[in-house]
Amino acid sequence: MQELVEKFRKHVIDLSSNTKEFVHHEWFVKYHLNLIEEIALELCDMHREADRNIVRTLVWIHDYAKILDKEKEHDAVMFQKGKEKLLEFGFENGFADKVIEYLGIFERKMEVDLHEAPIEVRIASSADGAAHLIGPFWSIYFKENSDKPIEELMESNRKKLKKDWERKIVLPEVKKAFEARYKMVNEQAGDFPKKYFS
Ligand SMILES: [Fe+2]
Repeated sequence: MQELVEKFRKHVIDLSSNTKEFVHHEWFVKYHLNLIEEIALELCDMHREADRNIVRTLVWIHDYAKILDKEKEHDAVMFQKGKEKLLEFGFENGFADKVIEYLGIFERKMEVDLHEAPIEVRIASSADGAAHLIGPFWSIYFKENSDKPIEELMESNRKKLKKDWERKIVLPEVKKAFEARYKMVNEQAGDFPKKYFS
């Protein structure tokens, strides 16, 4: 099973770094996917009941639709494509179904409270949100959208950050460990304190 996960991982790495049409190809593996995996694996060590293979596959498939076709990222057909790819790599049908079911929960974070989700989803989603708080993620958004006014970029970052913090990061230990980063990024996005010395 682990070898299959490795193979799928390599496939996603190749696709997201070599596909020049993918707008984020320059940084997506190094500053997003790898970071999520590192955080998720640490969380698996803390939550022994979590299935590591499910977590890792979820990590590597969670942005697969975006990598394949940004325009159709949210089409239901993308779930089918993801499942077909997993089967093509030799994963069992039951495993592929479970990953795709969990991916569906993960994706519905705005409608479903992920605090109630299976532990594998809580880990992958929290790691996804937390990874945004490390490295150049928010600066990259500025670079990639540099034609927009600064205030607009800051507002989008504030909205995205709120979504990450309230809907994606659901494990309390992640909130605790990343709170200082969250506050710093929120300030960079325009949420200034009233006072600086108290
Ligand atoms: Fe992501």
